Amino acid sequence: PGRPSYKIASIPADGIGPEVVSAGIQVLTTLAQALDEFDLNFEHFDWGSAYYREHGRYLPDDALERLKGCNAILFGAVGAPDIPDHISLWGLRLAICQPLQQYANVRPTRILRGISSPLSNCSRKDLDWVIVRENSEGEYAGHGGTSHLNEAWSVATEVSIFTRHGVERIMRFAFEMARSRPRKKLTIVTKSNAQRNGMVFWDLCAVKIAAEYPDVHWDKMLVDAMTTRMVLHPETIDTVVATNLHADILSDLAAALAGSIGIAPTSNLDPTGANPSMFEPIHGSAFDITGKGIANPVGTFWSSAEMLAWLGHREAANLLMESVENVTETGIKTLDLGGNNKTVEVTERVCQEIERLV
Ligand code: NAI
Ligand code: MG
Repeated sequence: PGRPSYKIASIPADGIGPEVVSAGIQVLTTLAQALDEFDLNFEHFDWGSAYYREHGRYLPDDALERLKGCNAILFGAVGAPDIPDHISLWGLRLAICQPLQQYANVRPTRILRGISSPLSNCSRKDLDWVIVRENSEGEYAGHGGTSHLNEAWSVATEVSIFTRHGVERIMRFAFEMARSRPRKKLTIVTKSNAQRNGMVFWDLCAVKIAAEYPDVHWDKMLVDAMTTRMVLHPETIDTVVATNLHADILSDLAAALAGSIGIAPTSNLDPTGANPSMFEPIHGSAFDITGKGIANPVGTFWSSAEMLAWLGHREAANLLMESVENVTETGIKTLDLGGNNKTVEVTERVCQEIERLV
């Protein structure tokens, strides 16, 4: 009695998704057994591109109801070479994130022990960021249309949507995130020089919410200048908030600067707690390495740690990351990090390390 027990939805989906999610489940199961403080029960869903080819859609009618019955979601990646990317992304991932109002996408980046940054002068203390991505509207609101397709006068629009509700809540979330970190520093990324409506409104909402956080230092930066700052002055950055599109791009850059896209985690959070949140590595289905057993599972391990922290088990999350870094530090790494270990070898070493530490 009183022992927490969580139902975790597992949606491995496509490409290397199943390889990294099964590695993640193995590590989480080992951790839960070793700690003996809480139970994790995984419920597996076979939604993905194979399901789509069979049923003509990515999700069954009751999908959201079934997910709402879970405490959290562990997601792999969606996308297949024979299906247009907008069909797969909107069919599965966005079809979960948007209705479940997982409006805060959180992407921490730091250089793990044993991993080096491609930036020659960047040490571990110079790069420790959290990028907060607006995850419900903006450029990915799905607002737009196509007319006269295949005619010389074809036209397509993709309208960015910025609502006061949407922008204020992500700004508040970002200021809270910045406040919770030692440096209490937030950079608001914008493009209000060229995009004079939506982005100017974004800036106005930022200024309004900033007034609620006098203890947080904040600055504003145009997104193009932000890319150079990330490369040339990484130590000046702490917490960052950006739109759906801008943060999508900046966070891939951030992952690469920390060593590889294969290590980076994402949390898709519903901060209200009304719906389960979803945790996934930031990478996609990586067709080029699917089935080779060389996918880096660290992004999924880190995402799993973020999931435990969100569920209230911060110490377990720290222990998981300590184990991961103890392993990367010994040089056990996959090809993308310059190593020669397979997914299963990294996974087994992390499990051994967990058992050793507990
Ligand atoms: P990607 O992330 O799948 O691959 C980019 C490059 O990084 C590839 O060379 C790949 O081998 C490498 N890579 C990615 N993850 C890795 C890992 N864990 N270990 C080692 N190397 C890794 O991005 P790409 O090629 O743009 O997209 C492929 C498919 O994935 C597309 O269908 C795309 O729409 C989808 N996608 C899905 C996402 C999601 O489900 N959240 C996110 C990004 C892309
Ligand atoms: Mg992306």
